[in-house]
Amino acid sequence: MAIEEAAARLARGELVAFPTETVYGLGADASSGPAVAAIYRVKGRPADHPLIVHVADAAQAQWWGELGAQGLALAQAFWPGPLTLIVRRSAQAPGFACGGEPTVGLRCPAHPVALALLRAFARLGGHGVAAPSANRFGRVSPTRAAHVAADLAAHAAGALGLVLDGGPCEVGLESTIVDLSRGAPVLMRPGGVAADRIERVLGCPLLPRDAQAPRASGTLAAHYAPRTPVELVDGDALAARLAELAGQGRRAAAWCRHRPDAPGSAHWEQAEDDPALFARDLYDGLRRLDALGLDRILVERLPAGAAWDAVRDRLERAAATFAGSA
Ligand code: TXA
Ligand code: MG
Repeated sequence: MAIEEAAARLARGELVAFPTETVYGLGADASSGPAVAAIYRVKGRPADHPLIVHVADAAQAQWWGELGAQGLALAQAFWPGPLTLIVRRSAQAPGFACGGEPTVGLRCPAHPVALALLRAFARLGGHGVAAPSANRFGRVSPTRAAHVAADLAAHAAGALGLVLDGGPCEVGLESTIVDLSRGAPVLMRPGGVAADRIERVLGCPLLPRDAQAPRASGTLAAHYAPRTPVELVDGDALAARLAELAGQGRRAAAWCRHRPDAPGSAHWEQAEDDPALFARDLYDGLRRLDALGLDRILVERLPAGAAWDAVRDRLERAAATFAGSA
């Protein structure tokens, strides 16, 4: 059976890509130095960027670090689910996946394939599976099995043995990351669980991430970027921008709610009105538009409001490379 085979591969120190409810992960035994090193190699990620350790349940998480009252309350409320908790690492927990930090990021994912894999790996004696998103460093995260192969096969040199296919990811963008390791809880990355739901469970506000935060690759300004430059444009300025680009001989795709009334649009994709639906299609949409090989991807700026925070965060990062170089 594929799950047992995948768990056995993990136990042998091999890489296995697997679906989660957020995005696909590139997994390896978090307790094995060489296995974790293979993740960094295949992903092309700098060695000081920590990885999330995926666990089967809160009990397994406690092996890696003390969750504390706040962590346990959050785990109970949101696990399995798209929430990652950063806590101080316990003395027995190896730091291979932690990028030199004294902490560890822990998440119990909700996808049935991921959970089955983590449970099967635990039965073989494993403590947890380190897994970043299964894309090359800095590129768009994968939400389908085909994205993983397209991104990593060329760089894996045979190291990417198995890609478990669990269909398209439900959530479509990464987990929310909350750092519980420095006293007051800090929101490190907006994601699949809305911040206000977390605050209600904690009974206190989440602090914003500060400049001293440990390096978190998903928090670099230019990240999640397709090859085609992405521009965020206000809805009422889209037609003018399309016309301007067309005047320069540049071909642009428009991703917005209403078909733009402009001659310059080479391609139109209807943007979802609902933040959860937009999130589900976000990375696949960016990849589809990128594959058109046009000169620009224009995305309509999102509505205000906390419900859009995670999507807005990823789109702003996708656009940052262009904004920074323009
Ligand atoms: O939804 C997700 O979180 C997906 C799926 C596969 O679970 N994973 C994911 O992993 O997005 P990755 O490696 O692409 O992003 C993990 C983020 C990075 O920004 C990393 O720096 C941060 O988590 N992180 C992990 N452990 C950390 C730690 N101990 N301290 C600070 N940041 C940490
Ligand atoms: Mg990532």
